[in-house]
Amino acid sequence: MKALGVVFSGVVVASAVAQDPAQFVNHFIGTSNGGHVFAGATLPWGSVKVVADSLSGDNQAGYVSDGTNITGISQLHDDGTGGGASLGNFPFLPFTSTQCANNDLTKCTVDHTLRAIGHGDPTASPGYFSIPLNNGVKAEVTVTQHAALHRFTYPNDTKQLLFLLDATTDLSGSFQGDGQVTVSPNPTTNGTRVTGGGRFTPSFGEGTYQVHFCFDAPTTFVQGKYYETSTFTNLDPAATFDRQVETHPAGVLFGFAPGTAATLNVRIGISWTSTAKACTYAEEEIPDISAFDSVQAAARATWNKVLGTVEVDATGVSAETQELFWSSLYRTYISPTNITGDNPLWNSTEPFWDSFYCIWDSFRVVHPLYAITAPTAQAEVVRALIDIYRNTGWLPDCRMSLDKGFTQGGSNADSLLSDSFSKGITVGIDWETGYEAMVKDATVEGDFTVEGRGGIAARAAVGYVPVGDTSDNPPNEGPNTRSASRLLEYAYNDFGIGLVAKGLGKTDDVAHYFNKSGDWFNLWNPNASNTGFSGFIQPRNADGSFFFDPRYDLNNVFRPDHCSPVFGHTDCFLNSDGGEFYEASSWEYSWYVPQDMASLVKTIGGPDTFSSRLDTFFSAGFHDIGDEPGFLPTYLYNYVGQPAKTVDRVDSIIKQFYSTAINGLPGNDDSGAMGAYVVWSHLGFFPVAGQATYLLNRPYFPKISITNEVNGKVATITAQGLSAENIYIQSATLNGEPYTKNWISHQLFTDGGTLELVMGSSKNSTWGTGQTDLPPSLSTGGFV
Ligand SMILES: *[C@@H]1O[C@H](CO)[C@@H](O)[C@H](O)[C@H]1NC(C)=O
Ligand SMILES: *[C@@H]1O[C@H](CO)[C@@H](O)[C@H](O)[C@H]1NC(C)=O
Ligand SMILES: *[C@@H]1O[C@H](CO)[C@@H](O)[C@H](O)[C@H]1NC(C)=O
Ligand SMILES: *[C@@H]1O[C@H](CO)[C@@H](O)[C@H](O)[C@H]1NC(C)=O
Ligand SMILES: *[C@@H]1O[C@H](CO)[C@@H](O)[C@H](O)[C@H]1NC(C)=O
Ligand SMILES: *[C@@H]1O[C@H](CO)[C@@H](O)[C@H](O)[C@H]1NC(C)=O
Ligand SMILES: *[C@@H]1O[C@H](CO)[C@@H](O)[C@H](O)[C@H]1NC(C)=O
Ligand SMILES: *[C@@H]1O[C@H](CO)[C@@H](O)[C@H](O)[C@H]1NC(C)=O
Repeated sequence: MKALGVVFSGVVVASAVAQDPAQFVNHFIGTSNGGHVFAGATLPWGSVKVVADSLSGDNQAGYVSDGTNITGISQLHDDGTGGGASLGNFPFLPFTSTQCANNDLTKCTVDHTLRAIGHGDPTASPGYFSIPLNNGVKAEVTVTQHAALHRFTYPNDTKQLLFLLDATTDLSGSFQGDGQVTVSPNPTTNGTRVTGGGRFTPSFGEGTYQVHFCFDAPTTFVQGKYYETSTFTNLDPAATFDRQVETHPAGVLFGFAPGTAATLNVRIGISWTSTAKACTYAEEEIPDISAFDSVQAAARATWNKVLGTVEVDATGVSAETQELFWSSLYRTYISPTNITGDNPLWNSTEPFWDSFYCIWDSFRVVHPLYAITAPTAQAEVVRALIDIYRNTGWLPDCRMSLDKGFTQGGSNADSLLSDSFSKGITVGIDWETGYEAMVKDATVEGDFTVEGRGGIAARAAVGYVPVGDTSDNPPNEGPNTRSASRLLEYAYNDFGIGLVAKGLGKTDDVAHYFNKSGDWFNLWNPNASNTGFSGFIQPRNADGSFFFDPRYDLNNVFRPDHCSPVFGHTDCFLNSDGGEFYEASSWEYSWYVPQDMASLVKTIGGPDTFSSRLDTFFSAGFHDIGDEPGFLPTYLYNYVGQPAKTVDRVDSIIKQFYSTAINGLPGNDDSGAMGAYVVWSHLGFFPVAGQATYLLNRPYFPKISITNEVNGKVATITAQGLSAENIYIQSATLNGEPYTKNWISHQLFTDGGTLELVMGSSKNSTWGTGQTDLPPSLSTGGFV
């Protein structure tokens, strides 16, 4: 992995506040090495996400920086996901006589794999993507919320602009029928219109989804063919052709006459509801098919507005740090998608958002970030989640392409909601119904493969989720594993329910749920030991005995390092033999008590043991920054009054695992979660997701301002004397008053204010180190 360059290189790149943060965004970070980053053109939370699709095993988000050929440029994608390749519907491909001998459309290679074309280096900027194909055609695209405008520039001597619209092939070949292709003259433009759609399957969920398109070319075609498998049907530019499509592949081929330039602009609207709506979106959002440059400029302006709630003074900050910061922030706004007004599933006046892929990843860092940088969007997200509860009966953990996705761990929408609630996100939100949804998660067992929790009855009886629990309804559906990591998450989810109960004045519930949040302790085995440390979270049988997995815990010696990077790293995914921890080891999950870290410190043996145990956790390779449970541990030194060690730890993680290179991410970006970790680390504080606490490390910019777009209040953080050496906080003031706590609360972002930090090169042995400087914990009187 390429390491990040020196943060303060001494090269002074910019001294003014960036007015055009889009200029710093590099779309290609994480487009190799399994980052699965979406590199294409979209708006913030855009429905349409367009990029060239690589013929690569890593094409979950379409384009991969691995040199593989391009199968098409398709209209819909997700960002940074694991699982199968997502979406990739309605690809276009410009052809020349190389693909279609003698410009004969029946000779074109339409097969998805065989048609793939080599390419040069793509370029991209917010709202724009371009790639030169080896057949001489340059493909460019820009977008609006529900539509895309493509511009294909053919070689100058091109006699006919040949073009493929594949109506059925998505990235995973999931076409299920219910398709339609209608080709007709467009009465308003005198051009060519194609409408259609089809049914497909989601990439990490159950069921199917339908999606619709409306395509417009500005002129009538010189020749056109409809193809279905290997049969070609001639199209008449003056007549309407209509076909129900059940067989895959199917699509249309056109030859257009070149105009004065060999350029073809085409427009496509996308709707999850109907082809009529897709046409309306296209016509309203891109009225002029020739206006590529102005659509692109508008897209960039939209991005700058959303990125611009954060302002940084980049004096003395390297170009690479600025690029890393803004590119990471940019990626946090790609997903979920705002498809309000385009919901085919139920009628509602509430916002509708999709591609929560998945909340297990995003609740920790992405949604807490929105709470300070995009609170309007976050309020809509919360309303959308509550409306999903109203209409499906459950809050989701994961959704994509209108379908239910697979639950990974706890019911973490509870913690997403408690995060927003405790940060005063209220606009338009029916918190009583939100609370009802959270309580349902905690009390009613559903099909936990896709909703709610499993093991509720068993946990009520014994205080934890036992290994092999079969009380699920329906029993054992899906990979019925993860009992230990789910229990830890359920306990923290319960804490979030308690926080909301407190705010809503439900006193009895507060006591109940705060008490249930103590269940983590029921899986604590003080006798489990590893590398000189005792006491670990260990799975437990229903009879109370601790569980040993015969596959790994040989001779009944529990292995808390199992599933860590050093032992059985890939054993713990969402598969039926996936063990009792999910995507991390007991070593890592044994830190996960954010509701009561003070109690964990005591349980582990006090601050010194806690601190040296953290040191070993990192130095022995048990920590995994490539999956989200690895984020919070990098900040935990604050809970034992050692904030300077957090500074060192976070700096070394950023340097070792993140860069602006194509392989600059340690794992799947997971809908911007990896990006959000980078953003928080650079801002100088990190959210304990689910509560209003932020743990301080140190900023990477001498001044950062965040404007609350709801009330206009500005939170400013300054780091006086910050340099490559001066990275430790010496002293601080908050709104002019001396401040020694090593954490801040959300109040800074609701009320506005200034946190002034004085930086130095040595670790101040007293700042942030006292008992009264520690972040809140339930057992030491926090949160009540
Ligand atoms: C990539 O495309 C080129 C044409 O641009 C073709 O010659 C080559 O065989 C393709 N490679 C693969 C692996 O498909
Ligand atoms: C194609 O034509 C355009 C416009 O006349 C010209 O600017 C461009 O240089 C030409 N490109 C090539 C490769 O000849
Ligand atoms: C479409 O064609 C008709 C008939 O030739 C013509 O009257 C009309 O102006 C054209 N409309 C556009 C938008 O070019
Ligand atoms: C929404 O309401 C309209 C008008 O009453 C109805 O035709 C349509 O079927 C409803 N859609 C859904 C998904 O319930
Ligand atoms: C979401 O989409 C709706 C409908 O287009 C729009 O009114 C709303 O402003 C969007 N929300 C955000 C945060 O952009
Ligand atoms: C929860 O309540 C039970 C019963 O009163 C008590 O034994 C236990 O200590 C409580 N746990 C916590 C974490 O408060
Ligand atoms: C831990 O080991 C001690 C000594 O063998 C034993 O008495 C105790 O019951 C054990 N505790 C647990 C929770 O297994
Ligand atoms: C170290 O921190 C203490 C406590 O905040 C403060 O009084 C002292 O001035 C700091 N030392 C330096 C060198 O800033």
